[in-house]
Formats: sequence, C-alpha cells, structure tokens
Amino acid sequence: MTTLLQLDASPRGPRSHTRALTEDFVGRWVRQRPEVTVTYRDLGVAPPPHLTEDWIAAAFTEPARRTPRMRADLATSDALVDELIGADVLVLGVPMYNFGIPAMLKAYIDQIVRVGRTFGFDAEAENPYTPLLPAGKRAFVIVSTGDSGYQADGPLTALNQVEPYLRTVLGFIGIDELEFVYVGNDEFGGDRLSESLAAAHDRVAELAA
Ligand SMILES: Cc1cc2nc3c(=O)[nH]c(=O)nc-3n(C[C@H](O)[C@H](O)[C@H](O)COP(=O)(O)O)c2cc1C
Repeated sequence: MTTLLQLDASPRGPRSHTRALTEDFVGRWVRQRPEVTVTYRDLGVAPPPHLTEDWIAAAFTEPARRTPRMRADLATSDALVDELIGADVLVLGVPMYNFGIPAMLKAYIDQIVRVGRTFGFDAEAENPYTPLLPAGKRAFVIVSTGDSGYQADGPLTALNQVEPYLRTVLGFIGIDELEFVYVGNDEFGGDRLSESLAAAHDRVAELAA
C-alpha cells in the first residue's frame, strides 16, 4: 500500500489555484491507483505552530535525555515527521508570496527538518549532514503566482525563491525527486490566466498518469 500526503498552503478557499490543481492531481492519481491512501493537511488554514525556545532546546537534546516536558514540546513535530516518513508521494500546493513560500509552509518545514529524525549531523564527518528520510519519495509541487515567467529559463526565474528553496530543503532531508508545475498570471486574469491554468491542468494530467 502506498500513501500520498497532500499539503495545501494557500489560505484561500475556492479562489485558490493551487488548491484546485492539487485536488485535480490527487483525484487523477487515486483514480488510476485505487490502492493509494491519501493523507491531507491544510497548512493554509491550520498551520503548525512556530518554533519556540523550548522546542529548540528539546530538539537538540539527545532523545534519551529528554524530559517528559521536552517530549511534549516535540509531539507535534514528531507526528508530522512520522506522517512524512510514511508518505511515498507528496503533493504540495504552494502560492508564491513575496517571491518565496508562504509562512504557513515555512512553519511546517521548520517542524519536519529535525536532527536525528530527518537529517543526521556528525561534526567529525567530511560531510556532516546526511538525509535520513527513506529513499524513493517523490514530490509534486504546484506553484501559483500573480505574474508569470518564474519557471526555469523564464524571464523572472532569478526572482523565484520558491523552487530553489524547496529543492534545497527537501533535498537536505532526502526528497530529491521533485516535479514543479506552474500556474501564472493570477493578477492579470482573463485569457492569460485561463491559458496558464489550462496548461497547468494538462501538465498535472501528464504527471499523474
Ligand atoms: C501576500 C501575497 C504576496 C504575493 N506575492 C507574490 C509575488 O511575490 N509574486 C507573484 O508573482 N505573485 C505574488 N502574489 C500572488 C499569488 O502568488 C497568486 O495570487 C497565487 O495565485 C496565490 O495562490 P492561490 O491561488 O493558490 O491562493 C502574492 C499574493 C499575496 C496574497
């Protein structure tokens, strides 16, 4: 049995393009693979908490030395990490906010990038960092933007802090098989938006097949 983890990071409801596209992707994926279990997390509406001093102290204390209070401080993070470890396929809906990812998704990432759980650290090693997630996970990332041309070799690619950041941080913990789908022109509307949406849904259909 395989598990798909769907993460939506837009705070918008029916007006969200990323939500429409992740729903399209997951619907197609599951229709073609009825054995797949879907886990859904709405980061846009219910983001995980930001990190605290207590969380940081707990995360960087060896597990055997953690107090019950420290374990409680890490409970949300541990649950999110367990969920991620159990997922074979990730589908992320990511609005571009101020050229980067929305804070709701960053709050999630801060909870799941964990020393000893999703990456290893060895100060003596030539390369101190090791990804710890089980190999073979795939991630499909749907990005929506108000302008357009942020994708590789587009005119605004240098401004895109979404794709390089997600490739870096997800690769750091062991997810390096990523596909990005872009929808653009939300700010312009009209044909420019509808053509971009149609192309994104076509790409979703290809990737989900
Ligand atoms: C706070 C905020 C910041 C945004 N920043 C950018 C930006 O830097 N570049 C851009 O092209 N669009 C930007 N947009 C437009 C969104 O990326 C666009 O509306 C996108 O469709 C949002 O995703 P959604 O439709 O899933 O909600 C911004 C929108 C908001 C609300």
